[in-house]
Amino acid sequence: MPQTSSLHIEPLSLPREWIERYDKVRNQSLKLVETLTPEDQMVQSMPEASPAKWHIAHTTWFFETFILVPCMPGYVPFDARFSFLFNSYYKRLGGHPHRAIRGTFSRPSLDEIRLYRMHVDNAMRELLGRGLSAELLRLLELGLNHEQQHQELIVTDIKHAFWTSPLRPAFRPTLYPTSKPGYQPGQMRAVESGTSTLVPLTWCRFDEGAYEVGHDVRGFAFDNELPRHKMYLKSFCIASRLITNQEYLTFIDNGGYRRPELWLSDAWDHVCDNGWVAPLYWERTGKTWVQFTCKGMMPLNPAEPVCHVSFYEADAFARWAGARLPTEFEWEIAAGSARDSKASDNLLERENFHPVPARQPGKTQVSQQHTSQGQTSLQQVLGDTWEWTSSPYTAYPGYHPPAGAEGEYNGKFMCNQMVLRGGSCVTPESHIRNTYRNFFPPQMRWQFSGIRLARDPEFGS
Ligand SMILES: [Fe+2]
Repeated sequence: MPQTSSLHIEPLSLPREWIERYDKVRNQSLKLVETLTPEDQMVQSMPEASPAKWHIAHTTWFFETFILVPCMPGYVPFDARFSFLFNSYYKRLGGHPHRAIRGTFSRPSLDEIRLYRMHVDNAMRELLGRGLSAELLRLLELGLNHEQQHQELIVTDIKHAFWTSPLRPAFRPTLYPTSKPGYQPGQMRAVESGTSTLVPLTWCRFDEGAYEVGHDVRGFAFDNELPRHKMYLKSFCIASRLITNQEYLTFIDNGGYRRPELWLSDAWDHVCDNGWVAPLYWERTGKTWVQFTCKGMMPLNPAEPVCHVSFYEADAFARWAGARLPTEFEWEIAAGSARDSKASDNLLERENFHPVPARQPGKTQVSQQHTSQGQTSLQQVLGDTWEWTSSPYTAYPGYHPPAGAEGEYNGKFMCNQMVLRGGSCVTPESHIRNTYRNFFPPQMRWQFSGIRLARDPEFGS
């Protein structure tokens, strides 16, 4: 939710262009569920995850509630009961069902939800066609970014749902039908499989000094990225790539999950209480490991980034490795130095739905040393996996949540959660940026979350 009065949003100007953008984002959500059955879309495998059907309805509710009802005179809601039914957590809007029972919503049917989407989409197109005010564009950007957040959750939640099923179905089999431009209807698309070659990890050093962090208000940002402010950082080093499965296996083989000295107190209790011995979705078969992926059960590729680890595990791994996690500010400064992050982005649009290994550095990428003004060959900055930081999710200096129900979007969650940066392989490309702050409780690991290390320069670089 942006502190919107200070944001400058105008990359598109014509109603037709905004309608096209609206349709593109809305269609992306439907594309994600096109291979799911109505029964698939009902499953809620744990309280933190939601059924795909609920995501499709709730994102529609958001446009209806925050745009059509207040901004479109004469708009008639599709069903007055939905204002309560598909409210997620906005207390100032009059209440909502408990999150854990979303999987009981067999009614309305999936067909009714599709009609609900069409009803809202038709009204949105009509409203946008009438003319664009600054306030309407602000709310539209918010609704589209909100929908993109839920697109990521559609994938993470159905992956968890399918993992809980004894049949272990695949969200996207290795070959699956696609409607991607350039493919004929019914044509099968192969999921990308990465190399198994390990890339050396090197360290990028940044100088001590004052840096600016936070969003610069050019384009959309959520309110929790604001205001931009100065931050004084001691010199630090950050890893050139994400930690791999091979490196994490070494941690496991070294007794990582059996050594309390590596874990924070809460973390160790969680490990013991839940019997953790490996990342979520990993299973040992004899002497080898396999993992559940969106393609189904697959052999563990040692070169891929380790994924589906909690903050607790990321922190313990860093301690075992003689390093630490970066603060979110170190991460943001380092991400801004990446020379070619866009070239390696593994985001939702690639339809890989799984992190891929780092690339072998080219001849110009061998040297990783630089100053704070230089460029680095940092890899896997955007996409692949969210990266846990050591920063608790709190307000920036001068932060004020927006007035009204919008203010409940981000600010009220600034307690007991840790910040993740960088997006994942299921984050939409137009939704991620270096200043983006994701946040989850430290024990959660069903998101595509991984590890990038940092350390202080006195340990060498
Ligand atoms: Fe939401």
